[in-house]
Amino acid sequence: MSYENFEARPLSGALGAEINGLDLSQPIDDATFAELRQAWLDNLVLFFRNQELTPEQHIAFTTRFGDSDPSAFIPTLPGYEDIRLQDMEDYSNLGSDINWHSDNSFTEYPQKCSALYSIQAPRKGGDTVWANMYLAYEHLSEPMQRFLDGLTAIHDLVEIMGPGILKRYGPERWQSFRDRTPPVEHPVVRTHPETGRKCLFVNPLMTWRIKELSEAESTNLLEFLNNHCVQEEFVCRFRWEKGSLAFWDNRCTIHRGIADFYTERRVMHRVAIADPVRPA
Ligand code: SIN
Repeated sequence: MSYENFEARPLSGALGAEINGLDLSQPIDDATFAELRQAWLDNLVLFFRNQELTPEQHIAFTTRFGDSDPSAFIPTLPGYEDIRLQDMEDYSNLGSDINWHSDNSFTEYPQKCSALYSIQAPRKGGDTVWANMYLAYEHLSEPMQRFLDGLTAIHDLVEIMGPGILKRYGPERWQSFRDRTPPVEHPVVRTHPETGRKCLFVNPLMTWRIKELSEAESTNLLEFLNNHCVQEEFVCRFRWEKGSLAFWDNRCTIHRGIADFYTERRVMHRVAIADPVRPA
């Protein structure tokens, strides 16, 4: 696909395109923005290199796509409640948390999209991978698609991460985690509200059970789906440099940061956009 106002270079056969010819620190006119939005819907993740953004410019670019959804769970950049500060030195203590996910799928209104900006990149490692959940759905057999179409997934962070919290921080922190993050239900297959395409909407970090199935059936089905979604044919991988920005659609992708860069430091700022529409 080609665009008039910038160049888009695909990153893999599945998804992702590097956009050349735009300076995100500058206001983007409406025609260019409309084309960029289309490029994002076409490619699912857009990548920009060598951007020099202040926190205000990062927020201004991202909020062209909707209202910010400040992170209630992860530390923010001092003075900027819209910017999640992701200093992966801290993450090294929570290595098991880094698994494939769609941002905040454990909430009733998962985030629509996220813009991750690299402040400090490791000399090696720390890449991020994304998977195309349209392709994951479309490559299932028709009987399997029909079966999944009627199912409901329970997303529950506490069931998955709770044991680690309990062990590390004790029962009080576990209870507060439980109170703040009740389980939520989403369809296993959702229809993207802008493209009208169907995609899978489960992920190994936050999807705990399939409501209509027995525990054994649910466990086996989720294991199959979680493996199916992230096969090489459905993914792209991005190598970060200082000043890189990735902007992705959480409704039809899952992603994972790869924790292979210790003892180097990796510092990222992330702005997420709220989705006023529940997955359906
Ligand atoms: C995330 O999981 O939202 C961020 C991924 C990354 O740090 O690469």
